[in-house]
Parts: sequence; C-alpha cells; structure tokens
Amino acid sequence: MAITTCVFDAYGTLFDVAGAARQAAAEPGQEALSALWPRLAEDWRRKQLEYTWLRAITGDHTDFRRVTEDGLDWAMEAAGLSDATLRTRLMALYDALPAYGEVPDMLKALKSKGFATAILSNGSPAMLASAIASAGIRAHLDAVLSVEAVGIFKPSARVYEMVGTRFGTQPQQVLFVSSNGWDVCSGASFGFATAWVNRAGLPMDRLAARPGHILPDLSTIPQLAGTL
Ligand code: LAC
Repeated sequence: MAITTCVFDAYGTLFDVAGAARQAAAEPGQEALSALWPRLAEDWRRKQLEYTWLRAITGDHTDFRRVTEDGLDWAMEAAGLSDATLRTRLMALYDALPAYGEVPDMLKALKSKGFATAILSNGSPAMLASAIASAGIRAHLDAVLSVEAVGIFKPSARVYEMVGTRFGTQPQQVLFVSSNGWDVCSGASFGFATAWVNRAGLPMDRLAARPGHILPDLSTIPQLAGTL
C-alpha cells in the first residue's frame, strides 16, 4: 500500500527542544547559565518525557504545558537555579522553539508531491500553534493533531489512532517520522511505515518493533515517501 500521508512528531523532530535553554544562555545577564545549559536542557527534556509516560500509565493526565513546567522545575532545582524570571523566560522560549533548518522546504516538497502532511504530538494545541506560527510552517500542514483530543500521552495507541480518524488511512499508508526512538518504535508497532531521524547518532531503543528507516535529518523524507 503506497504512502499517502506523512505524519511528524513535533518536539525534537521538527523543533529543536534544546533551543530554549541555548537561547536563554546567550541573553545578557545569563552568564551563570552558559556553562549549565546543556545539562539543564537534557534534564528538562528527560523529566518532561518521564512525566508523560508515568501519567499515561497511571491515567493521571494533565496537559503538556504542565509536564513541561514540572520537568523544568526539576531540572532547575537539580542545577541549583532558583530564578522565577528565568523560569518564565524559558517557558516563553519553549513556545517559540526554532524549527530545524530543512523543515520548511521538506514540508513544501511533500505538499508539491501530493502527500498529506500532519503533526501528531503530545503538545497542547496552544503550545503547538505557537511553535508552528513562530516557525512559519502552518501553510504546509494539513492537520495539527494534539493528544489533548484523546486525553492521554504517547505511546498510547489511542494517539496513533488519531491519524486514521482524521485522514481515513490504514496505518500502512502513513509514514510516521520521529526523532524520539521510543516514539518511532511505538509507531512501528502500531503498523505505520516509520523513519527515525537520529540526529545525535544514538543507539537503537530496545523495544518491540524497530523503525523501517533511519535518517540523519529530515531532508530526504519527500524522496523516501515517494519510494514506499
Ligand atoms: C511530541 C514529543 C514526544 O511532540 O516530542 O509528541
């Protein structure tokens, strides 16, 4: 079955999640952050994701803004940072994360080849709308699917099912693209064709299924989708 629809994870895949801490560290008065920001960004992301998984398991759902704030609070405390202004600034920067450089042209190429395009993300609708507007990519997306419509985070199958509900596709007609190993493996278990964007050269996650394709960035997605 040929691919008709290309669906992207948002955070880490289209948007650089380290961008908020990196940018804050470059701002005047933030010299203390300049040495700390890589660890802060890593802890922030790791705790944010852990909280999504734990809340999906326990059924204690809250939205992605809340788990992002909770992850940031943990990471700032671990780094010995107690600064309400910095916390506010980092959350504001998270709403305007930079998109990876190849993203706009890649989405444009998919549209010109006739593929439907979408984001499927843990992000709350407002956070996604803000990051998408800031990256200027809304015109290249047919749909922005947020887990808030089903009230549970990835990797619940209820999230991946949202694609078929929106586009009327079978899983094999969908190319699901994520930089998050656990997300792309879960999409493969669900039955999607998959591409793992492994920018950091990380080891493969040991989960039930493996991604169909591994790419260093997003630039060849239009070419790959056309061959599947
Ligand atoms: C998302 C997270 C997993 O956008 O990056 O869903």
